[in-house]
Amino acid sequence: MAFFKLAVASLALFFHGFVVNADTVIYDWNITWTTANPDGMLERPVIGINGQWPLPVLNLTKGDRVIANVYNGLGNESTSIHWHGFFHRGTNDMDGPPHVVQCEISPGSTFTYNFTLEQSGLYWYHSHSRGQYPDGLRQALIITDPENPYRGQYDEELVVTLSDWYHDQMPGLLKDFISVSNPTGAEPVPNSALMNETQNFELPVQPGKTYLLRLVNIGAFASQYFWIEGHNLTIVEVDGVWTKPAETKMIYLTSAQRYSVLVTMKNDTTKNYPMVGSMDTDLFDAIPSDLNYNVTGFLVYDKNGHRPQPYVLDTFDPYDDFDLEPTDGIALYENPDQVIVLNMSMNNLGDGANYAFFNDITYTAQKVPTLYSVLSSGSAATNPVIYGRDTNSYVLLKDQVIDVVLNNMDTGKHPFHLHGHNFQVLYRSPDDEGFFNSTNTTSFPAVPMRRDTFMARPTGNFLIRFKADNPGVWLFHCHLNFHLDAGLAMTFVEAPLAIQETVKIPQNHYDVCKASGELTAGNAAGNTVDLFDLTGENRSVDPLPAGFTTKGIVALVFSCIAAFLGMAAVAWYGAAPIGAPMIPNTQ
Ligand code: C2O
Repeated sequence: MAFFKLAVASLALFFHGFVVNADTVIYDWNITWTTANPDGMLERPVIGINGQWPLPVLNLTKGDRVIANVYNGLGNESTSIHWHGFFHRGTNDMDGPPHVVQCEISPGSTFTYNFTLEQSGLYWYHSHSRGQYPDGLRQALIITDPENPYRGQYDEELVVTLSDWYHDQMPGLLKDFISVSNPTGAEPVPNSALMNETQNFELPVQPGKTYLLRLVNIGAFASQYFWIEGHNLTIVEVDGVWTKPAETKMIYLTSAQRYSVLVTMKNDTTKNYPMVGSMDTDLFDAIPSDLNYNVTGFLVYDKNGHRPQPYVLDTFDPYDDFDLEPTDGIALYENPDQVIVLNMSMNNLGDGANYAFFNDITYTAQKVPTLYSVLSSGSAATNPVIYGRDTNSYVLLKDQVIDVVLNNMDTGKHPFHLHGHNFQVLYRSPDDEGFFNSTNTTSFPAVPMRRDTFMARPTGNFLIRFKADNPGVWLFHCHLNFHLDAGLAMTFVEAPLAIQETVKIPQNHYDVCKASGELTAGNAAGNTVDLFDLTGENRSVDPLPAGFTTKGIVALVFSCIAAFLGMAAVAWYGAAPIGAPMIPNTQ
């Protein structure tokens, strides 16, 4: 299965004191449909690579050059690959999100990703095309650093992925989610949870050994608690950042988050122990009675021994990631140059469907990928207007220190991910604190925890800080798949004039755009003559008429259902957009 062994001690010895000769690692990937039944309940189509699913865990070494030739053999869907957590310094065009830094790879096209690994730790790769990765295109990726601060303190590395799993495919789930028949925006509840893309996963272990367990949540929506009965977890890495050791019994991983933990095995081989991933049911509007929200795997000391079922927990007490401290000692950046306040909300637009917003803007992809607009607009690139209203773009100047205040006006938990950076976490409020208020926090950590995905608590807030030292177009978005597709994203256009000097798009990427019929120059609308004329830019659905509220929509939908039920017109449910004649107060 998806774990591997590495003779780390001998590698460290071999590399010690040498300049490592970096390898070039070439992947030739054919992205195709295959089938799988990972929870044993339903065989369904999944997206595989070269006919294989689960996808390969990539084992790379810091300094390697990666060349991935990605052929889209799906036939019916476009695709793309995002390398989650990578800085892509100088190679912003290899980051992956379509309409942001590249075009969609349409069926029959091959797109080549080509970049060098400057980071180390645990990452993952996944499709960044609309809603796609939970259909299977997702897997862990490890970059070994022979010089890592914990070398010599563990015997082997093992990968454990956690995820939710849906029996239905994403395009249908998204259609139902962003729909007039779902005005409250209730997210689809997963059918099961997986560990290493299966259930009852077995990890053969040896007594007395210490393992570096690499944990990543590659799921679409559900956060997971993780613990191993009878064993402590010592956190040493968070989202690619080595940390001082922090011991705990349990960790909490939102979608896209990673932790590496040291786990020392018992000396006694008479018992096997369950390891448990447990989906955070707070995220679910309703819990189906037949849902098993846990997934169990086993540390197997004795392969002939019993596999004990885990104890059921009713309270969870995971480690608070805010308290972690990076071993590199990078101190709090001083004196922010720009403070960006993002008020996050979820609400209905005029089609009656529920969308997600930063500062009342729901992200809408443009006709020209934003990076291509940067490269084709000369000095106008510093004006965010040219990127289109609904990319919600902010231009950052090179090396500025940027504060982002996130006010979560929603009652759900949301993990926010920034591309191209890991950010310092300065403050996170408890539940229900409301808007960020600087008087609630008197001091920030001297060496703040850094990561690339961080969760805001329900109707709470957080403050993060990063340095704009990586020229590129970087998305900031909620990593809950459904919310991203409901528009919960915005764009940082970081040092656009420096991008123009450093990023050069290879001809292959333009060829892919040609095949997908997308534009590659001009402003968001593709206007190359007048960059400030945005006529024809893509825009979100218009807002509801004034005075019409979410409550009104809910009431309207339910009263319509009631009215139609008697006429056996149930088929209307979920089909028709709300038209003007149905809106009573506009007649
Ligand atoms: Cu892992 Cu923009 O995502």
